[in-house]
Amino acid sequence: MSLFKGMLKSGETLFRDTIVLDYDFQPKVMQYRENEQMRFATAIKPLLQGQNGRNVFIYGAPGIGKTTACKHVLRELEEETEDVIPLYINCWKENTTFKIFYKLCEDLGYKFIQNKKTSELFSLIQAKLNKKSAVFVFDEIDKLEEMDFLYTVLEDIYRKSIFLITNYRDSYTELDERIRSRLAPEFLSFPPYNEQEIAGILQQRRDYAFVQNCWDDDAFKELVEKCTETNDVRVGLYLMREAGIYAEEKSSNSIGVTHVAEAIRKADDFHIKPKEGLDQELQEILNVIQENNGVKIGDLYAVYSTKGGELSYKSFQRRITKLDEGRFISTEKVLGKDGNTTIIHHSGHKKLTEF
Ligand SMILES: Nc1ncnc2c1ncn2[C@@H]1O[C@H](COP(=O)(O)OP(=O)(O)OP(=O)(O)O)[C@@H](O)[C@H]1O
Ligand SMILES: [Mg+2]
Repeated sequence: MSLFKGMLKSGETLFRDTIVLDYDFQPKVMQYRENEQMRFATAIKPLLQGQNGRNVFIYGAPGIGKTTACKHVLRELEEETEDVIPLYINCWKENTTFKIFYKLCEDLGYKFIQNKKTSELFSLIQAKLNKKSAVFVFDEIDKLEEMDFLYTVLEDIYRKSIFLITNYRDSYTELDERIRSRLAPEFLSFPPYNEQEIAGILQQRRDYAFVQNCWDDDAFKELVEKCTETNDVRVGLYLMREAGIYAEEKSSNSIGVTHVAEAIRKADDFHIKPKEGLDQELQEILNVIQENNGVKIGDLYAVYSTKGGELSYKSFQRRITKLDEGRFISTEKVLGKDGNTTIIHHSGHKKLTEF
């Protein structure tokens, strides 16, 4: 009966618990970000001693644990004390002052707030927070449409730490001068993980998500390599799930390199952040890149200008860096006859198989 050896029987599955493969799953233990978490804790510490906390501006590429590390610290804080209230806002979802204050009120336990105005909502927040102290995490701040909530919080909440998270270091200079001078944050850059760290993270998730020993060593190694090339842990989680599904479809009771390869092929249009999240200026530049793929940055700028684009070359370059950081495009440095130049590729054209 060796014909059927290695096949899944009906009702059998390779998965034990797929929740741990979700992008927003919070692992109990978070390795490799001890230093960053320590920096957060140090910024919060004065609040525990009845003083004002410090603010932190956090930036780094997608999928390298910024949100997870922050939430981890908030959770520990919550277990430690009731005097400091942890508040987390995703500014992609809550992108205006009204929506942010509304969500904060909800999180602070207020009911019947449907008909309240922005200023009334803030009074409620103030009433609760100024009796204690608070840590605010505003995540994905580059997606905000309004910033004045920050000014209000900085001015009228007395004891607090504010953490701002973004993919772009530039987001800081885009903040209003009045906000910047009050915020005076420490800067914390999250570096990408190395291969060993990616392996450790994915292994931990694999051991929860799948039945024991169903991953071939080579297949897992391939997965780790691919994930390391993209720098993004989410790619690894995504490929893990897809490879498992593909192996099941083939009724295989183990996950091998062919299943991982298939998952990588299928992941061609892998986009973590939909481009709807970009502001209009960036979308326009992205459209130009899409229509002129694989072109030198100087030529691209020329096309952009003839289409009525008004940015200076320097600002244009900065926008390109921003799109690159968000992985909407990729850049390639080449040596041309007139010296170094950069070629820009639209990510829709760059497949996961090409990394
Ligand atoms: N050190 C780690 N240990 C365990 N899981 C991790 C670690 N770092 C990242 N992850 C996992 O990787 C995924 C992406 O992490 P996270 O959402 O924190 O990224 P991010 O840096 O906030 O990305 P983005 O800028 O796109 O929001 C999550 O599922 C998270 O659980
Ligand atoms: Mg995040």
